[in-house]
Amino acid sequence: MINKGIILAGGFGTRMSPLTKAVNKQLLPIYDKPLIYYPLSVLMLAGIKNVLVIVNRGQTKEFKKILSNGERLGIKISYKEQSYPRGLPEAFILGEKFIGKDNVALILGDNFFYGQNLTKNLMKCRKLKNGAEVFLHPVRNPSLYGVAKINKKNKIEKIIEKPKKIFSNLAITGLYFFDNNSIKFSKSLKPSKRKELEIVDLLNKYKNKKKLKANFLGRGGAWLDTGSIKNFYDTSAFVSALEDRQGLKIACLEEIALNNKWITKSKINDAIKFYGNCDYAKYLKKLIKFPRK
Ligand code: TTP
Repeated sequence: MINKGIILAGGFGTRMSPLTKAVNKQLLPIYDKPLIYYPLSVLMLAGIKNVLVIVNRGQTKEFKKILSNGERLGIKISYKEQSYPRGLPEAFILGEKFIGKDNVALILGDNFFYGQNLTKNLMKCRKLKNGAEVFLHPVRNPSLYGVAKINKKNKIEKIIEKPKKIFSNLAITGLYFFDNNSIKFSKSLKPSKRKELEIVDLLNKYKNKKKLKANFLGRGGAWLDTGSIKNFYDTSAFVSALEDRQGLKIACLEEIALNNKWITKSKINDAIKFYGNCDYAKYLKKLIKFPRK
């Protein structure tokens, strides 16, 4: 069972400049909460209570202001600074001590997941014993993503980063489950032409050993990438539309913690005080007054 998760929340956020010149992308708002709430909510929905957040050099204190050590959420959050964005597999090198001898989940700090069977699906992935598992989702524009081709048994046959010739419309999303070899394999990777360790190269190591499995969010699931300004605001609009219509928040961390029985109502009261007079705190107040399933 995977009990540890890493959120990669560093990066230059070049495509979002100048918004990201002074502020880390993951601290910018997707509608009513910082972007980091969304990937953290995914790990929490998967039942993961031990989280390492990788941030840029000098930014730990900014993230601590909003997430602290996780106590408010009944989880443990630690931080590690990345001196330079050397690529996604660096998560396993920087996270070596955190991971120890365990398996681990990795989610990119700017990825948004939403959908009906998400929790069930995540719980299934957490059971990974060996190998690696990725989530694939169809996209209209595969040439912008890492793309995978699968066989009839859902084993991945081929992966190419930003393919020029389209051979599949299944993009590899930013949510991965890895066994402990991820540390060793990541250390053996060589930087690519763009001078980064590539996640596709790490996944290929698993694929070559026939240890790479595909999972699917399904048609009813949404995977939104918030890397560009347009995508960022589209995601914000998506959250706003759903929340305003249903009166239910997406990625309300305290709600997930309460549902998971990691915290009691008294911690929700602490959170209400922490947030102050805002709609998010009002939502939490309603939550303890009229508990929902
Ligand atoms: P990217 O989208 O590759 O990079 P970025 O967010 O810095 O944006 P841009 O391409 O516009 O410069 O990164 C995906 C996510 O992973 C994002 O949340 C940042 C994070 N990341 C790290 O934390 N460390 C890294 O070394 C890299 C490459 C990314």
